[in-house]
Order: sequence, then structure tokens, then C-alpha cells
Amino acid sequence: MLYLNGQFLRPEDAKISALDRGCLFGDGVYEVIPVYSRQPFRLAEHVHRLDASLASIALPNPHSAAEWMELVQAVIARQDYDDQSVYLHVTRGSASERDFPFPQDVEPTVLINPAPLVTPSHEQKARGVRAISHADFRWLRCDIKSLNLLPTVLLREAAKRAGCAECLMFRDGWLSEGAASNIFVVKDGVIAVPPKDHLILPGITYDLVLELAKQHGLPLEVRRISEAETRAADELWMTSSTKEILAIVELDGQPVGKGQVGPLAQRMDAHYQEFKQTVMRGGAAC
Ligand code: PDD
Repeated sequence: MLYLNGQFLRPEDAKISALDRGCLFGDGVYEVIPVYSRQPFRLAEHVHRLDASLASIALPNPHSAAEWMELVQAVIARQDYDDQSVYLHVTRGSASERDFPFPQDVEPTVLINPAPLVTPSHEQKARGVRAISHADFRWLRCDIKSLNLLPTVLLREAAKRAGCAECLMFRDGWLSEGAASNIFVVKDGVIAVPPKDHLILPGITYDLVLELAKQHGLPLEVRRISEAETRAADELWMTSSTKEILAIVELDGQPVGKGQVGPLAQRMDAHYQEFKQTVMRGGAAC
């Protein structure tokens, strides 16, 4: 069962207008919320980021934070599987004609569509994954979790064709992020990550990694990272709600460090998994 504009429906019964601005222009924003044992992970943070994305595109938020949380919980409760990936999007709705400026008096489209959560396999965790790189040809508001995902589609397809899991992006010689993940770099025992500015998505997992590094006394710097530095790293990690913390062991066919999952990736992943367990036991205290 999914949720669409106030109704819980079977996916085959859910219909969106062909004139929906999400469909015509990608005029909307989205979230992906991982759910473990029916506990949404960092739900308040996802709802907060959704609100920020909506504000950035001047789309009035149709729900309060409390209402969003209730809706997400209601969707989770209606599924017959425990670990879920809850996709949520809000578009500017559908007007009677295709015109670029905002339409007047149009209700936004709200879709909440869950799927079984697919996290990295044991093999991917143990061996790491491979990545390619590409120039970051996206726009200059990558902090908005926008529905315009054509760059992501093209870059992930290129990665897939190369037998890789992710595509790292560089803009003007600096690391930005992965096509659908944030990227952490480790050199000489120090973790580094680019700052949360308009060039990257402010990841929920990114924030948690920063918190865990602080809590466990692991040195971490938030700063710009050059392409040369990225290629010379001892370890590279990709982080996202669905990939969690995943080591990249090969970039553009070259080994990253020793070409295997590094010690800091293992440590951070252990802290992450421990935190996750605590959330599942502790309910809302995440
Ligand atoms: N993507 N950067 C980009 C461009 C992303 O699309 C994502 C997540 C992230 C990581 O954000 P978080 O830790 O909050 O998931 C960074 C989601 C998973 C997606 O589009 O499916």
C-alpha cells in the first residue's frame, strides 16, 4: 500500500495526472527514509530536510513535521515487511496547462511509496565496491533534494555499465559527492569530507558519521578536498541512507590505498551498526 494525496492505495490503483509538474518539469522534492524493524531511521531529520528542500523551491509545506511523521508511520504499518525504504515526494501539483511559472490554487501532490529495504550485501561490505568518476555537471543547488535526477540517472548507468556501484564527481578539481551518496576520504588516519554547501546534498548519514567520529574520538576534518587528494586516499567511503557506510576500493580502475576495505571504514561501520541497533531498541530516541 502506498499513500497518495490523502488516500492509502494499492500501487496499481494510484494515479497521478499526466500534467503533474513533477512529471513535466521535475518540479518537486523528495526523501528516502530507511526503516529497520519498522523503526524509521532519523525520521525527524528527514522531515526537517524535506522542509528545507520545499522552502528552497518556494513550495509551501502541505504538512507539519508531526503530520509527516504520523503519515510515514501509517505507511510503514501498512506493509507486510519490516525493513523498508520509504520514498516520499512532494510536487507542485498539476495545473490545467503546461506553463513554467508557478500555477495558482493548485494542491501539491504528496506520494509516499515504500519498498523493501535493500542494504549492501555481505560481500559488498566485506570486499568494498568499485567506482568511476566524472565531471560534476549538475546545477549549483545540489543542496536541494530535487526530483530533477537526470544527471544521477546518467552517471549511475555509466557506473553500472563499468561494473561499478557509484560515480564520484569532481567540480573544478574538487571532490563534490557521489551520484547518490556523500563521499568521505581517509588519509594517514584522518577522515575528511567536503563541507555542506550548495554543491552537495546535506546527507543524513553524513551528519551521523560526523557525530559518531566525535563520539568515538576519530579525527575528522570538514574541508574542501582536491581531486589529487581523493585519488591518493588510503580509504574512500560512500554514505547514504540505503548504502549506509560502504568502502570504495577501486576508483577508475586504480586501487584505493591497498585496494581493500580499510580499518577506519570497518570501525565507522561498526559504530554505525551499533547505533542502528540502539535506535531499533530505543524507538524514537534516534
Ligand atoms: N540519495 N548525495 C546525493 C546526491 C544523494 O542522492 C544522497 C542520497 C546522498 C546521501 O544522503 P542520505 O545520507 O541522507 O541518504 C548524498 C538517496 C538515498 C536516493 O536518492 O535514493
